[in-house]
Amino acid sequence: MLPPGPPTRPIRNMVRWVGTPLPFLDEMAGRYGNVFSMHLPRLAGPMVIFAEPSAIRDLFTGDPLALNAGQANIMLRAALGKDSLILLDGERHLRERRLMLPPFHGERMKAYGDAMREVTLREVERWPVGRAFPVHESTQAITLDVIMRTIFGVGSDDPRLVPLRDALVRYTTLGTSKIGTAFLLMTPPERAEQLQRVATRGLGRLLPWSPIVRARLETDRLVREVIASRRREGTEGREDILSMLLEARDESGAALTDDQLRDEMLTLLVAGHETTATTLAWTLHHLLENPEWLTRVRAEVREVGTAELDKLVLLDAAIKETLRLTPILPMVGRVLGKPMTIGGVDLPAGAAALACIYLVHRRADLYPDPLRFDPSRFIGKKVDPATYFPFGGGARRCLGMAFANYEMKIVLANILARVDLAAAPGKKVKLVRRGITFAPSGGMPIVVTRRY
Ligand code: HEM
Repeated sequence: MLPPGPPTRPIRNMVRWVGTPLPFLDEMAGRYGNVFSMHLPRLAGPMVIFAEPSAIRDLFTGDPLALNAGQANIMLRAALGKDSLILLDGERHLRERRLMLPPFHGERMKAYGDAMREVTLREVERWPVGRAFPVHESTQAITLDVIMRTIFGVGSDDPRLVPLRDALVRYTTLGTSKIGTAFLLMTPPERAEQLQRVATRGLGRLLPWSPIVRARLETDRLVREVIASRRREGTEGREDILSMLLEARDESGAALTDDQLRDEMLTLLVAGHETTATTLAWTLHHLLENPEWLTRVRAEVREVGTAELDKLVLLDAAIKETLRLTPILPMVGRVLGKPMTIGGVDLPAGAAALACIYLVHRRADLYPDPLRFDPSRFIGKKVDPATYFPFGGGARRCLGMAFANYEMKIVLANILARVDLAAAPGKKVKLVRRGITFAPSGGMPIVVTRRY
């Protein structure tokens, strides 16, 4: 028997999920507890939402070949392409993930530290003093430049990359708008390509989602162009991700095709900047709302400096607490490839099981006084992947986790070392949906009060 859940009103559930998702989740958990079923339109099997650590553990440690995140992420197909790592499952996912992982880990990743620092300082120099401005736009500019340098080996201001950078900004802006979000979440995946084709021809160009589709196609074209020109120039002596992926071969000696490369590039470009930029904006928001923590974290940065990141324990805890309280993705999903028992619930093959980051991170029995921003929860403590998972988990855990954590520390340390900040007066920041992520409203306005 499936766990209880709201009555079978799929359309109504969908409208609430798209419109006011977090209050909806709170209401459902309040009414049905930490495990509940949900009916949404077009789902092939039942869907169960878990806010229960034993279930989260089962989902993250179970057979990766039967826990299909690609199928659960199918609504991203129109946005990222069918060959995106996020949409793959099974052996092919494992193989491609193995190819893509090395640049985002260990010493290789640290090679990008200088670029992260340089890009941040350049952006902070541009911030006005004494006048409110939306810092989220700035964190996006930083993270987009960082990921483009990492992927292509040259900055986003390089004339060869400027058109692609501008297209990506347009695409992410349109794709995370209200219409973009509705298009993304409500388009049946099997009709995505058809709807895209219609939107680029004749009167179809007047359709509300046409600008999004055109921005996507333009981005696509420019990514292909960059891949082609790198193939022509050759990859010798280059250490960037595109060159590495052009050279990469799997066990059978096969390389990625151009279509696969394009979708993987787009995935890294989009997933690798939007998420980190939003978390940076949230961290600044929480620090400004909690001045005692801002003072402590800033004092640590000014004492330790910005180079020895391992010693910035308060900053690290503040980022972790930000991702606990305001994770940018509220849940991660798996479609079961065979019947499985998840957290004691028997589910058939084809069922969708969702690990709810948002609800677990706010459970009062796991995090006392859960709505309070309190980084001390994480100081000197090892986190349990079944109760803290802002980057998801198991074989599908975020590919860029180490990279994002490293980048966020460098960016925040350099911001706090250079400027004093205050919240913009009279502006109340709310949590708003941006595509599939959740961000602070109004671009998270702040004021620089002093420069060092
Ligand atoms: C604060 C920043 C970030 C957050 C909170 C975040 C969060 C996530 C989450 C929740 C998932 C789904 C995991 C699952 O299903 O278990 C994911 C997947 C992924 N993320 Fe991130 N992410 C961040 C930054 C990045 C960066 C910087 C990159 C690239 C450089 C990246 C690339 C990816 C990719 C490629 C996947 C798909 C992995 C797979 O399916 O094997 N992410 N991320």
